[in-house]
Parts: sequence; structure tokens; C-alpha cells
Amino acid sequence: MNNPTMLRLSGVTKKFGAYAAIEDISLDVRRGEILGVIGRSGAGKSTLIRCINGLEKPDAGSIEVLDNDDVLRDLVPLDEGELQKVRRRIGMIFQHFNLLSAKTVADNVALPLKIAGRSRAERKGRVEELLGLVGLDAKAGAYPAQLSGGQKQRVGIARALAAAPALLLSDEATSALDPETTTAILSLLKDINRRLGLTILLITHEMSVIRAVTDRVIVLDHGRIIEEGPTERVFAAPAADLTRRLLAAAQLGLEKD
Ligand SMILES: Nc1ncnc2c1ncn2[C@@H]1O[C@H](COP(=O)(O)OP(=O)(O)O)[C@@H](O)[C@H]1O
Ligand SMILES: [Mg+2]
Repeated sequence: MNNPTMLRLSGVTKKFGAYAAIEDISLDVRRGEILGVIGRSGAGKSTLIRCINGLEKPDAGSIEVLDNDDVLRDLVPLDEGELQKVRRRIGMIFQHFNLLSAKTVADNVALPLKIAGRSRAERKGRVEELLGLVGLDAKAGAYPAQLSGGQKQRVGIARALAAAPALLLSDEATSALDPETTTAILSLLKDINRRLGLTILLITHEMSVIRAVTDRVIVLDHGRIIEEGPTERVFAAPAADLTRRLLAAAQLGLEKD
């Protein structure tokens, strides 16, 4: 893939007290690529993603994101106000969906647009478009409690895409879903990746998820990258012991929490 670099981490370390949750992580993600990050519970996956969207400040290293002028800019030195602008280029989806239960599907999806100061008319048009994209046109007026898990995650995806981000971060977005719904959500993400050219960083402890959609994968252990390569190669010929063990567990169907 010869696309420009969308995201570049160089020597990123984040400590909690004396403990390094991630250590010396360097990583390039190209525009339009789907990169998988796999690792056991506690490996540092969520910390990595929280550093990328500026929720955690690394102790060392730089995190560069391609901006609207196609220039890589380090977000580590930015203050909260500047970070908010960068975050508009970064969408995020979560394991437990994080929807507002007192708001309708349409209002949940519209929220980032409201925060960005878009007019009511603009929001209405955009929300219709997004609900169409995720196949939820009929649910605009429903409340989260009336939806299945898969439908809730579709709302989460629509909301994450509302401000037209260039990068989508997914932290265990299918871990609370059954296998069939997981497959449907993954094909939706793949479809969005193709249609919008969106770059996706997919974090999961599920090998089957990595295999289904990612172009490339990194394996994290104790905060360090212990293996990296094209997904096909890593599955066909894993280099690290841990990768082999994760693959064996996946084959036995042991990977769900
Ligand atoms: N806010 C925090 N304070 C202290 N320790 C934390 C904090 N966040 C994460 N950690 C620790 O950092 C390590 C990595 O956590 P995390 O990034 O959540 O892993 P993963 O998402 O791979 O399960 C764990 O040992 C966890 O206990
Ligand atoms: Mg996590």
C-alpha cells in the first residue's frame, strides 16, 4: 500500500507510577489501512488507543496524525483545546457502546455535530445519511434500550462517523456481541473502510476478528510490540510464541471473555 502515513507513533511510552502500560511503541498506519492490535487482557491495548485520541498523555515519544493539509502533526504537546480539534478527525467506538439512554438514536448520532456547532438542518441531513450507511433508517426515533446489541453498535459507528473522521479507533467493539452479530458489524466496518477510504485501528483480544478484516496486525505483550506483519503471514506462520498460543486458543473457541 503506497498511501500516505495517516498515523505515526515513535517511541511512545505511558507509565502508571513505575509501571509502563505501553513501552517504546513505534508504528505507522497508512491511509485506508485496517490495522489490528491484538494482545491479552492487560497488554496495553486500551492505553495505546487512549494515547492516540489524547485521553492519556504519553511520558515519552510522539504521536503524529495527518491533518487536513496532509501534514503529520504531533499531538503530544497539544493542550486540551487544540486536542479537541484533532479529535474531530478521530472517531471512536467502544465495547459497551457508550450511548446516552435518554436520547433517541438520531439524537445520539447528532451529538458530535451539535458540539461542532452544526445547524439543525445540517444535522438532520447528516444523521439521515449516517443511519442509512449503517442500515438503521427505521430506528431514528427509537431509544437505545429498544435496540439489540448489534443495533446499538451500529448507532455507535454512525456517531463515530458523524464528524467525518479520517481515523476510526475501535476498542473491543465486538467483544460484547454474539458471533453472528460480530460478523455483521465487522463487514459493516470493512464496507465503510472501502466506501469512505477510512483508516481503522481495530483493537481486540479476538483473533477471529483480526483475521476477518485487518490488512496488518501487531501483537502487544506487556506493553511492547512482540510481533508485526501482514495478517495472512502472521496467521500462516506466527513468529512469536504468544501469537501461536493466541491462535491455538482461538481455534478452540476459548477467546471470548
Ligand atoms: N488509569 C490507570 N491507572 C493505573 N494503571 C492503569 C491505568 N490504565 C491502565 N492501567 C494498567 O496498565 C496495564 C494495561 O492496561 P490496558 O491498556 O487497559 O490493557 P488492555 O486494554 O490490553 O487490557 C494494565 O496493567 C492496567 O492495570
Ligand atoms: Mg482494553
